[in-house]
Order: sequence, then structure tokens, then C-alpha cells
Amino acid sequence: MKTWTMVMILLGWLAGSGAAMAGEGMPPLKPVQLSMDQKTLQHGAQVFTEVCMGCHSLRYVTWKHLMDYPEIGMTREQVDEMRGDAPLTAPIKTGLSEADARESYGVVPPDLTLIARAREGGGAYIYSLLLGFEHDPEGKVPDGNYNLYFPGHRIAMADPLGWLDHDEDEEQELKEQARAVASFLAYVGEPHQLERKALGRKVLIFLVVLTLIFWLLKREVWRDVH
Ligand code: HEC
Repeated sequence: MKTWTMVMILLGWLAGSGAAMAGEGMPPLKPVQLSMDQKTLQHGAQVFTEVCMGCHSLRYVTWKHLMDYPEIGMTREQVDEMRGDAPLTAPIKTGLSEADARESYGVVPPDLTLIARAREGGGAYIYSLLLGFEHDPEGKVPDGNYNLYFPGHRIAMADPLGWLDHDEDEEQELKEQARAVASFLAYVGEPHQLERKALGRKVLIFLVVLTLIFWLLKREVWRDVH
């Protein structure tokens, strides 16, 4: 028993210091309120297809999903406009080939379907990353590739929203684009999350009602017993 307690404490400490090491030299993520409402998710899908799809795919999300997932709920017309001549049931795929990506960026941009789940901080990390392009204080990393939130600070993705030298009057719009696409990517990484939450609520209501019925029943049964 005592040994187990010690093992658990040791494991907890190791996990804690591991996490601290992974985050070393990283500023805290920018605060952001992601939203899963239709307006935000549709805006996010738009930003994705207009900007990110130049390099990234969503291997597990088809064009049809943008209509079928009720939280996104796009119309056929909206989707047709975005997909061009890609089949409705095909995944959302970049036109950039792996060979061209390697030649231009040195790496293949990762598929983004599950990226929000794969990175600590999820949507807030994506939001921070998109708004994290700065001039390298040491002047070593070229502009557009220095990112405050990317491990090591040198990223092969060049400032997709144009955050680095934005005008002041663009600031709100860029933040909203980043928030929308971060929300969208957090959503597509876990599209059944909302469904599960709704189910959880239903189960809770059901249990409360059931408890009430049992309580009334018990009162009824015991009424004449003294
Ligand atoms: C011009 C090509 C290009 C565009 C456009 C682009 N990316 Fe990237 N992205 C990349 C490359 C290349 C990487 C790999 C970076 C690396 O490993 O250094 C990357 C990596 C990422 C990562 C992973 C970072 C990590 O922690 O590993 C995220 C998240 C991401 N991009 C999000 C986006 C979003 C959201 C958009 C649209 C707003 C976007 N990207 C647009 C090229 C692009």
C-alpha cells in the first residue's frame, strides 16, 4: 500500500516535470473564447478553404460533412461554391502535392483533422500560433517564420493570415479569422463531442425524473404502513 502511494507520487512528479519541460521557454497561450455556433464554424470553414487549404488537407472531413454536421449546417449552394469540381463525398484536400511541399517548405504540411487533439492547448494553440508571428528578437529566423508559440520558434509555415505586419484596422478581423478557424478545427477534431454533451444532459434529466418517480412511489407504498 505504502509502496504504491510512493510509486504514484513518483509517477505524478515525473509527468509534471515532463510537461514543464515540454513547455519550457513557451509563453502562455493567448486567451480565446472558441465557439461552436453555426456562424463561427461556417466562417472557420470558409477561412480554412480559402487560406489553409492551399497547403493543408482534412483527410477525415468530406465536403458533404459541412452540410451533414448539424453544428456547421452549410447549404448545398455554399458547399458547391467552395468545393469547385471536387466530388461532394471526397475529403477536403489541398491541391499541393507532397513533392512540391517538400521543395517549397522542406516539410509536408500536416493534415489538420486531428491537430487540435494532437497539440496541447488544442484550439487555443492554433489561435495563438496563427497570431504568434513576430520579428525574431535575435534576428536569426527570417520574418514570417518566427513564431512565438511553435516549439523552437522556427516554423516552416509562413504567416498564413498575414499577422506579422498587419495594420491596426485589420487586427480585429484577423483575430476573428483565427478564432473562427481554430474553433472549426477544434470542432472537426471531435464532431461528436456536442452530441455527447447533449446526450449527457438527457441522461441527467432522465435520472432526475426517475428519482422523482421512485420517491413518489415509495411515499405511496409506505403511506399506510406505520
Ligand atoms: C503556404 C502553405 C501553408 C498555408 C497556407 C497554411 N499552412 Fe499551416 N503549415 C504549413 C507548413 C509547411 C507546416 C509545417 C510547419 C513545421 O513543421 O515547421 C504547417 C503547420 C501547421 C500547423 C501545425 C503546427 C504544429 O504544432 O506542428 C498548424 C496547426 C497549421 N499549420 C495551421 C494552419 C492554419 C489554421 C492555416 C490557415 C489559416 C494554415 N496552417 C495555412 C504550411 C501552410
